[in-house]
Amino acid sequence: MQFTFPTDAQELATLRVDACALILFEGEQSDSPVLRALDHALSNVLSSVLEEEQFTGKKNQSFTLHTHGKVGTSRVLVLGAGKRKDFQLNDVRFLTARAVRMANPTRVRSMGIVLPALDSDAAERVGQFVSEGALLASYQFDKYLTGERKKPVLLQDVLLLPAVPGAVPTAASASLASASHSEAFQRGVTRGRAVAQGVALARDLVNEGANQMTPRHLATLADQLARERGLELSVLGPQECRELGMNLFLAVAQGSSEEPRFIHLTYRPKETPRRRVVLIGKSVTFDSGGLSIKTVEGMLDMKMDMGGGGAVLGAMSALSQIGCVDEVHVLCAATENMPGGAAYKLGDVLRGLNGKTVEINNTDAEGRLTLADALSYAVDRIKPDVILDFATLTGACEVALGSHTAGLMSTNQDAANALLGAARAAGEDMWQLPLPERLGEVLKSDIADIKQCGDRKGGCITAALFLKEFVGDTPWVHVDMAGPVKATQEWGHHGKGATGFGVASIVEFLLSRS
Ligand code: BES
Ligand code: MN
Ligand code: ZN
Repeated sequence: MQFTFPTDAQELATLRVDACALILFEGEQSDSPVLRALDHALSNVLSSVLEEEQFTGKKNQSFTLHTHGKVGTSRVLVLGAGKRKDFQLNDVRFLTARAVRMANPTRVRSMGIVLPALDSDAAERVGQFVSEGALLASYQFDKYLTGERKKPVLLQDVLLLPAVPGAVPTAASASLASASHSEAFQRGVTRGRAVAQGVALARDLVNEGANQMTPRHLATLADQLARERGLELSVLGPQECRELGMNLFLAVAQGSSEEPRFIHLTYRPKETPRRRVVLIGKSVTFDSGGLSIKTVEGMLDMKMDMGGGGAVLGAMSALSQIGCVDEVHVLCAATENMPGGAAYKLGDVLRGLNGKTVEINNTDAEGRLTLADALSYAVDRIKPDVILDFATLTGACEVALGSHTAGLMSTNQDAANALLGAARAAGEDMWQLPLPERLGEVLKSDIADIKQCGDRKGGCITAALFLKEFVGDTPWVHVDMAGPVKATQEWGHHGKGATGFGVASIVEFLLSRS
């Protein structure tokens, strides 16, 4: 897909594209010069349809108008952007995605997009979010569709058009259309492409069935990524993990006939790194619950239990293309959680990599065991400045915050604020939950250092309190993304299925200057 930002003012009425999307703030429809110009060329049909449809620019309003050759574009798509005062720059991704979603079923190859007039210094972000929105709205997991249901997206050319066309540019449009802003726009497009590719990778990994996406396969894909991007890779098999003492991770793996893999990817910047960052992603490629087996309902989406791993691998893919001043390590303790004859059992006491002992009381709380050994590995062997972990860890988090918001918990408020800020800029919902020490009493064990899990109350917090026992003094932020890993409806840049949640926030976190 190509993204262009014509520097000379385009005559909208003569521009030859298959569709042109007009995006308007609520209540600003009558002030839009583009709309006026098009309406004029269409003998006022546009304004009368606007009236018939009672279009006022509310957030989810939209309609299509066929132009029957009267202007250069075959269709005009009009979309509401909601109130200007509620607008955030990352809404450009949402709005572009909606326009592209409207256009794609009609098999368009080229489309123009007219965003509302924005600050000229936003050109780079606009380029980023336009490309992310268009590319991600065009994402399809269609490798298993056959026949007529397989409809490849044809969209090739996206032209971003100034909100004010023609020979009378106002200050805003003139500066936005200047050459330097066009360069900034293209810089943004380059970044947006890399992020979109990373998100698409995460979605592909998560959407794939667990029969294909085994721990060994995940390691093979990490190897491909390492070769493509010049990353360091080390993959530990069960024997090597045993020698190191990763007994928590191995216990989860032992009920399955699929071998586990501990994946460690490293990105090193050319210059001396600003800091060393570890990204850990929960990578349970299928979670049956083990002997504490799940119900059919509960197990249905459990191929997605490696969504954290998808997020950190997707982010690594993006940032190794864009480049970054940090040294970045990605860890994925990849395993299935199955109830085979060798499965770990309730009542077992296991010794983790850092020497702490854990009493097992629910084999379905497997994620925290795999993460605990990954955290110990990071703390002891990598000695990072900060650790971020992303995990589809608890159903309780989705109950607490709903399906679109991840729970964020941390032992270091500066690191938490940095990730919360990055998520806000990237347009991903994260909300901080507390880590009250007192709640940790439910994790007391009579026979081991700590019990694996508490009761239902505050389940996502007690899971994080368990993890906290393995991070020592290293600044650490935990993100429980059990809800937002998947979507049951189309929304902006994501369709049904895996969302690729986390990738955009991680990239933003690593590229931010603070
Ligand atoms: N992978 C699940 C959490 C999950 C649930 C993710 C729903 C996405 C959607 C996790 O391993 C799990 O089973 N958690 C248990 C924890 C309990 C046993 C303490 C849960 O949420 O029920
Ligand atoms: Mn589980
Ligand atoms: Zn799980």
